[in-house]
Amino acid sequence: MIVALTGQKGGVGKSTLAICIAAELLARKHRVLLVDADPQGTVRTWGEVGAENGRALPTLVAMGATMHRADQLPAVAASYDHVIIDCPPRHGDVQRSALMVSDLALLPCGPSAADAWALGASIDLVTEARTLRSDLDARIVITRKQGHTALGRTARDELMKSGVEVMRTEVGYRVAFAEALGAGEGVGTYAPRDAAADEIRALVAELLLWEKRHAAQEAPAPAAKAGRRR
Ligand SMILES: Nc1ncnc2c1ncn2[C@@H]1O[C@H](COP(=O)(O)OP(=O)(O)OP(=O)(O)O)[C@@H](O)[C@H]1O
Ligand SMILES: [Mg+2]
Repeated sequence: MIVALTGQKGGVGKSTLAICIAAELLARKHRVLLVDADPQGTVRTWGEVGAENGRALPTLVAMGATMHRADQLPAVAASYDHVIIDCPPRHGDVQRSALMVSDLALLPCGPSAADAWALGASIDLVTEARTLRSDLDARIVITRKQGHTALGRTARDELMKSGVEVMRTEVGYRVAFAEALGAGEGVGTYAPRDAAADEIRALVAELLLWEKRHAAQEAPAPAAKAGRRR
């Protein structure tokens, strides 16, 4: 599957989730390409630290607003089981390019109703991309959630109105995420017993289930048996 972590708003957790999802898929022995589409280079820096610390890493590559061209991402994607794209905030051209080649747009969203409202422009981009790519699917993922507050529920209720489905897995506000990235790892290896690692494992399991269902929908319907008579 090709998943773009996308959204117009900055600092919502795109890079954190992109890296942790890619690292978890790698830990499950999948072949993973992690695309750094953000000039800030969060993924690149994470990879450099990981390499210095001798960590196993997914294949990392930097791409931009032309990644959808046949000689770019489509030319390499087939060599991997999964491609995870970390998009920059705001740069609509890069996000559009990522959405042209993705199976799933994953939109991280904070836990408050205000976070949910701020997602409007990001959802518009996905809707626009869907006019060209009817098979592009989208999901919102609630992240940076603090405690079992009613805020999270409010966000979920607000998000339901957006017309984009919300992932069942919610990701908490946890120090382990920042620490793991600083160590060049994902939370699954950095803090395997932390709730953060449980959440990423649950999120990846949910994504793999999504992939299975998506593949079943894409598959052509079985042809009617030839020569069959009543
Ligand atoms: N679930 C989380 N719990 C705690 N801190 C988090 C979580 N997710 C992200 N953060 C922290 O929030 C900050 C922004 O996260 P991140 O860089 O992943 O966001 P982003 O959407 O990629 O930002 P940008 O739009 O600038 O690329 C970082 O300091 C990161 O460590
Ligand atoms: Mg980022």
